[in-house]
Amino acid sequence: KWPEKVTLQEVGPRDGLQNEKKMISTEDKIQWINQLSLSGLQYIEISSFVHPKWIPTLADALEVAKRIHRIQGVTYAALVPNQKGLARALEANIDEAAIFMSASETHNQKNINKSIEDTFPVLRNVVKDSLSAGKTVRGYVSTVFGCPYEGRVDIDSIIRISDSLFNMGIRELSLGDTIGVATPKQVQELLEVMLKRFPAESLAMHFHDTYGTALVNILTSLQMGITIFDSAVGGLGGCPYAPGASGNVATDDLVNMLEGMDVTTGIDQDRLFKAARYIQEKIGRVLPSHLLQAKMAK
Ligand code: HMG
Ligand code: MG
Repeated sequence: KWPEKVTLQEVGPRDGLQNEKKMISTEDKIQWINQLSLSGLQYIEISSFVHPKWIPTLADALEVAKRIHRIQGVTYAALVPNQKGLARALEANIDEAAIFMSASETHNQKNINKSIEDTFPVLRNVVKDSLSAGKTVRGYVSTVFGCPYEGRVDIDSIIRISDSLFNMGIRELSLGDTIGVATPKQVQELLEVMLKRFPAESLAMHFHDTYGTALVNILTSLQMGITIFDSAVGGLGGCPYAPGASGNVATDDLVNMLEGMDVTTGIDQDRLFKAARYIQEKIGRVLPSHLLQAKMAK
């Protein structure tokens, strides 16, 4: 059994582009995000207000946010690591700030240059100031199914971080399989514990497809009542501070599977295909999406 309707949150313009070597021009990003906006997606993470030295491909976040054509009913979010990032995000009039940290110490340190303990006060202030500015906040916990440096991650540590983030006032928490190592068994074990503590409507799953298990992990999550999934058009994505991590589950593949199961996504598949083809052309390599390649071959 699975839900009749799900929400897909597009992270391609952020997770997708942060790991690309090629710089996509600001103009092309804007065109692409405008196409995504018209495809029926209700949520787009458009960029990151992180340090441009750490993620050079997203250094134009402010300009992108200011120049895209925003459609009513679509939430335009961006990654925010600290107060400095929040100031830029507010200047960009972003709808929602997405804060992030890792469940494993080493990845947290490499990704945001802080221990887990030292990250809490930083994020607490970001959430407080976002809420005062009238913006909602979404949280990410990364490396929940495995860390590139430490291997398996303890469920207790995921719970502790999730509790802290919800206590700060986040609206929703995304559980990130940063390096794409999760199996359905692991997903089931984690969700059994998480769903005893947090309502299904407040949890999103964020799968990378490094080992080809993203769709089966989504199916498992669906069967357990999860209705929010992060994905990236074309299967773009990866974290530069997680060596070996590859793309997010492809939004196009996910929509194709879900609509085939009569699970409504609200997404226009033709428009999504055009947006996937557009970014593949701009990036200049074959993207991982199965649907995109099957359609291109026709
Ligand atoms: P830091 O070097 O520790 O920062 O970086 P700091 O606070 O010590 O400040 C150093 C300098 O940076 C200062 O400038 C600050 O003003 C400036 P100076 O005084 O030396 O001239 N600075 C900033 N500038 C612009 N924007 C900012 C900012 N913050 C400080 N926001 C920091 C700490 C967090 C900024 C850095 O480590 C960083 O930017 N990390 C981001 C890494 C990243 O984006 N990783 C990928 C995203 S996470 C992910 O992919 C996982 C996810 O997809 C889920 C999953 O798959 O699991 C979400
Ligand atoms: Mg990710």
